[in-house]
Amino acid sequence: MNAVICHSFGLPNSLVVGQLPDPAIGESDVLIKTYACGINFPDLLIIQNKYQFKPALPFSPGGEVSGAIEAVGEKVKHLKVGDRVVALCGWGGFAEKVAVKANRVFPMPAGMDFINGACTLYTYGTSYHALKDRAQLKSGETILVLGAAGGVGLAAVELGKVMGATVIAAASSTEKLTACKEKGAAHLINYSTEDLRARIKEITGDKGVDVVYDAVGGKLAEQALRSIAWKGRYLVVGFTTGEIPQFPANLPLLKGCSIMGVFWGSFAEREPQQSFQNFGELLAMMQKGIIRQHIHKIYSLEESPTALDDLMNRKVIGKAVVKVGEWKEEAILATREIKLPAINTSTEIPKPLQIQLTDIKKYVGHSLGVTDWFTVTQETINEFAHATQDNQWIHVDIDRAKHQMPGGKTIAHGYLTMSLAAKFFYELIEIKGATTSINYGLNKARFPVAVKSGSRIRMTGRISNVEDMPGNGLKLYMEAKMEVEGEEKPAYVGELLTALY
Ligand SMILES: NC(=O)c1ccc[n+]([C@@H]2O[C@H](COP(=O)([O-])OP(=O)(O)OC[C@H]3O[C@@H](n4cnc5c(N)ncnc54)[C@H](OP(=O)(O)O)[C@@H]3O)[C@@H](O)[C@H]2O)c1
Repeated sequence: MNAVICHSFGLPNSLVVGQLPDPAIGESDVLIKTYACGINFPDLLIIQNKYQFKPALPFSPGGEVSGAIEAVGEKVKHLKVGDRVVALCGWGGFAEKVAVKANRVFPMPAGMDFINGACTLYTYGTSYHALKDRAQLKSGETILVLGAAGGVGLAAVELGKVMGATVIAAASSTEKLTACKEKGAAHLINYSTEDLRARIKEITGDKGVDVVYDAVGGKLAEQALRSIAWKGRYLVVGFTTGEIPQFPANLPLLKGCSIMGVFWGSFAEREPQQSFQNFGELLAMMQKGIIRQHIHKIYSLEESPTALDDLMNRKVIGKAVVKVGEWKEEAILATREIKLPAINTSTEIPKPLQIQLTDIKKYVGHSLGVTDWFTVTQETINEFAHATQDNQWIHVDIDRAKHQMPGGKTIAHGYLTMSLAAKFFYELIEIKGATTSINYGLNKARFPVAVKSGSRIRMTGRISNVEDMPGNGLKLYMEAKMEVEGEEKPAYVGELLTALY
């Protein structure tokens, strides 16, 4: 099989494109055909022999993949050939196939694509565990995220916001901080040009921050600890600067604060039930459009050394992903639905989200969640046919549909489905201070699956852009995706355009 191979430990440019034998699987393993592989900081450490796990040479790096199961070991019961999965393989992901212990493999929920799937578990898993289980972050608290535009950092910004905290994002460039703002950061600190302590004091007054999420270590760590609030929690997550900070013990004493280690891999091994619960909640949040990965760039398998090099040189914002081979998402179907747990109500987005017209530009990139289900009845279809005077038999002739349509049902007109986008729009967002709001167009509309009479549909929305319009107006772009209950593919994907005055 094609693979990118580490023959001797070193920097990304020492990796070579070549051939490895297909991996063999044990009785508790599965063989995954790799579709995508997320790039994570430990991939950089593992090729330099600086990580806690040390595979034998030669090996292919790449610790997190998405793909489809090709073979299962005799003892594997919860997965089967053809399942779309995400997996934490540790290494082996920069290759066309990878063997993984079945307990590190999870079915992908409906609606998740392979690119997002390949960079979900690690970053969101770590940051959710850090904020929820370790810091026990509460709504109304303030959190400082260092390295906020990196993989785990941006996930912490987004989850912190979803959990109701005020997020202060700290990173090294304006471009990186813009991405943090789009994920909901209320305050931004550029630590290449600004004094971290002075800015935190400016933002929080004498109180300081309740939680520090530190994925970088180095010189900033002590400054952040000195800016922590009474009974604050300092989360030790990573040391990308290469420097493990040493803290004077009087600081936690004076602050009454806790310094907490976060070791997500160990947590997942030692507390598998809690870890599965967290995954389920994260996947449910993703399915509802509450959280969504920021994809920096998609690289080919051959370009994976460049992807690692970009990560090493601090060029990546959010996640870099390697696409393995040539494939089209639409051509690969999920084989089954998985049941996701309910999300803690405090993390649900309130509906509709109320936004002041003057603030709307701040919400670009913001997910609006999902609407309630709406049933498209035969009566709805008939009324639409009557109103538009378009009485094609596939919409209105129930008897003929019984014999001639797949599934024996009439289907809703594409324009009917599309027009429901405007109805759903008002369920997701209420714009305060706008005297006029006109849903006047749709961009890039696609209808991957038909809506049969009696189907339940709902819509997920995200504000993708806001532009100025002549006459003091604003043009709002909302990415909209309508799903049909029980169907893998969506009924409608497009961009809804709304003029606001
Ligand atoms: N404890 C756990 O369970 C756990 C789990 C996952 C990851 N981690 C650790 O968390 C850290 C971040 O991982 P990640 O995958 O999110 O990495 P990432 O995407 O590369 O993000 C790391 C951020 O660190 C900052 N940085 C500062 N100095 C750097 C340097 N010399 N080289 C590279 N980046 C530097 C960069 O932001 P600026 O340019 O803005 O400074 C970068 O965005 C790593 O140390 C990783 O091992 C820990």
